[in-house]
Amino acid sequence: MSRPLSVALAGLGTVGGGVLKLLRDNADNVAARAGRAIAVTAVSARDRSRDRGVPLSGLRWYDDPVALAADPNVDVVVELIGGSEGPARALAEATIAAGKPLVTANKALLAIHGADLARQAEERGVALAFEAAVAGGIPVIKALREGLAGNRISAVAGILNGTCNYILTQMRERSREFADVLADAQKLGYAEADPSFDIDGVDAAHKLAILAALAFGRPVAFDHVHVEGIRHISALDIAFANELGYRIKLLGIARQTDAGIDTRVHPCMVPQSAPIATVDGVFNAVVAEGDFVGRVMLTGRGAGAGPTASAVVADLIDIARERHTPVWGASGASLSSAPSMPMDSHVGCYYLRLMVVDRPGVIADVTAILRDMGVSLESMLQRGRSPGEAVPVVLVTHETQERAMRAALGMIAKLPTVMEEPAVIRIEAG
Ligand SMILES: NC(=O)c1ccc[n+]([C@@H]2O[C@H](COP(=O)([O-])OP(=O)(O)OC[C@H]3O[C@@H](n4cnc5c(N)ncnc54)[C@H](OP(=O)(O)O)[C@@H]3O)[C@@H](O)[C@H]2O)c1
Repeated sequence: MSRPLSVALAGLGTVGGGVLKLLRDNADNVAARAGRAIAVTAVSARDRSRDRGVPLSGLRWYDDPVALAADPNVDVVVELIGGSEGPARALAEATIAAGKPLVTANKALLAIHGADLARQAEERGVALAFEAAVAGGIPVIKALREGLAGNRISAVAGILNGTCNYILTQMRERSREFADVLADAQKLGYAEADPSFDIDGVDAAHKLAILAALAFGRPVAFDHVHVEGIRHISALDIAFANELGYRIKLLGIARQTDAGIDTRVHPCMVPQSAPIATVDGVFNAVVAEGDFVGRVMLTGRGAGAGPTASAVVADLIDIARERHTPVWGASGASLSSAPSMPMDSHVGCYYLRLMVVDRPGVIADVTAILRDMGVSLESMLQRGRSPGEAVPVVLVTHETQERAMRAALGMIAKLPTVMEEPAVIRIEAG
């Protein structure tokens, strides 16, 4: 065997610690697959005294992670610090500039600076590997970029944030409200102290932007992703969804349409019979549709030390074997400049739940607005009677354009008999 691949690890937190452990526990297996040993020789974190569960003696320690790139005894740098700016970005750029391969799990960095970093990596002829950045342990980057490379991909969609999926699953199974479940998830370590990136859909949007770039062979375009989170989902809507035969999931969806590439993250109602509807708890899933392969679904753990380390080490093995694929599957010159579809042009069915005063004529006012805006109804559901008080009314539309739906909602919300902001959830086939 040739000499070991010398790895510098920046960040020794959840993922960094997992990588150290995997490389130690599975050293023989990894060496056989890589054709050589893979050895961490240099590390960086903030707190040198913290116990990482794996001895660090004998490894070169750097207070400044960016300095790892210039270490002449380092072959490849693994960035596991996080964040789209600061030391993570500086280290990524310094590593590529030094002509060394970079492995990262950092979806925020790739979603925002991925186009630039890919260009820099291509110019320098170095690998930029990021299997761990999307769906943790699920090898979705390789699947889309290599396994499905012969296909034209028409759509890729998924449950891309385990925290949101856990919260929505708990809300359904325990009939609890969002805020209660979030507080519990924070206590259990399934949600961050500041959960906004997860629950507002930003984390899923970072991942979707990366998947869309791979699926459609165009530079990553995070700014074009329409993003909505799950804060406004109520136990009542989850119960109605159940009654109508749906599950509510936060999905990231990227689809090739006649009007351009549609990329969006928002809560969706999917039929209970759809395979993705059964992916619960912290699990992630990605569905891709290719013209020759048909539909492929991958599911597994999207986060955590073990799954994420599994993906990082797969990238290191590729680098040890000198298996090198262009970042987005095709060289920069071959990437497409397909436009993005504006969300206003989205066409789909909608679930609409209103709290209206229970008195004659109220529903007629609502349906008149929908009719005037060209929105036709598939069904209506009203539960309970409470004359003079607010009661829920659920409307399900036929296919309609987002623009028309928004205009109708603006008018409906202003009706004096509508007591709360209407709840709206888009319906997807799954
Ligand atoms: N956690 C997951 O399940 C998961 C899954 C997929 C992708 N990712 C991505 O993987 C990356 C790492 O996530 P994580 O969960 O492992 O984060 P984490 O547990 O917070 O660890 C971050 C590490 O970076 C170190 N660090 C922070 N600032 C630094 C600086 N200025 N200089 C040197 N070291 C610095 C920290 O040092 P100290 O330990 O000394 O504080 C810590 O070891 C992120 O990009 C994240 O999005 C995570």
